[in-house]
Amino acid sequence: MNIVLFGPPGAGKGTQSKRLVAERGWVQLATGDMLRAARAAGTELGKRVADIMDRGDLVSDEIVIALIEERLDEAAAAGGAIFDGFPRTVAQAEALDGLLEGRRAPIEKVVRLIVDQDELVARMQKRAEEEGRADDTVEAFRVRLKNYNDQTAALIPYYQAQGKLVDVDGAGSMDAVAARIAEVLDQE
Ligand SMILES: Nc1ncnc2c1ncn2[C@@H]1O[C@H](COP(=O)(O)OP(=O)(O)OP(=O)(O)O)[C@@H](O)[C@H]1O
Ligand SMILES: [Mg+2]
Repeated sequence: MNIVLFGPPGAGKGTQSKRLVAERGWVQLATGDMLRAARAAGTELGKRVADIMDRGDLVSDEIVIALIEERLDEAAAAGGAIFDGFPRTVAQAEALDGLLEGRRAPIEKVVRLIVDQDELVARMQKRAEEEGRADDTVEAFRVRLKNYNDQTAALIPYYQAQGKLVDVDGAGSMDAVAARIAEVLDQE
């Protein structure tokens, strides 16, 4: 099954994706992780996106769509993909729909993790201490939230119109959220 884990920065998409990988054997396709890997490897792509990411802005649709496309065979072989942090714009969502249509494996569900803004900021600050990500600063996080509201939130009506959007409460423990997601995925 192909699903999108959707939500603002800090909503817990990465954490929950990794659990689904462990429990269901699906592949996590996280564009943020792919871009950070490119930076760590010192590739041309990594150099090109570094400043954009560090200030909290979105990299170009073209770049992230290409990264996703490269991994779709692997996801199909695993029996499913969890799209994490992608799509983030309507253009990305349309491109993804096009790619998956060609493969006859559409997105089945879009799980939207709902977390209030004060909690998002608190989680970011905790992660800043643990991981030291350059974009986990008050200023970059403000930009990330703004980009989410200005560009990514448009995907809510996009997926609602397709009848795929399911809201899940993203507050509480990781186990509690995982149980809520499992319930949604196991429902027909
Ligand atoms: N689909 C995308 N489109 C454009 N830029 C992206 C995309 N995915 C990742 N990026 C870039 O990588 C950065 C980090 O993305 P990532 O998904 O790791 O973080 P996040 O979703 O903001 O936070 P979190 O890890 O808490 O969910 C983004 O701020 C952006 O610069
Ligand atoms: Mg993430």
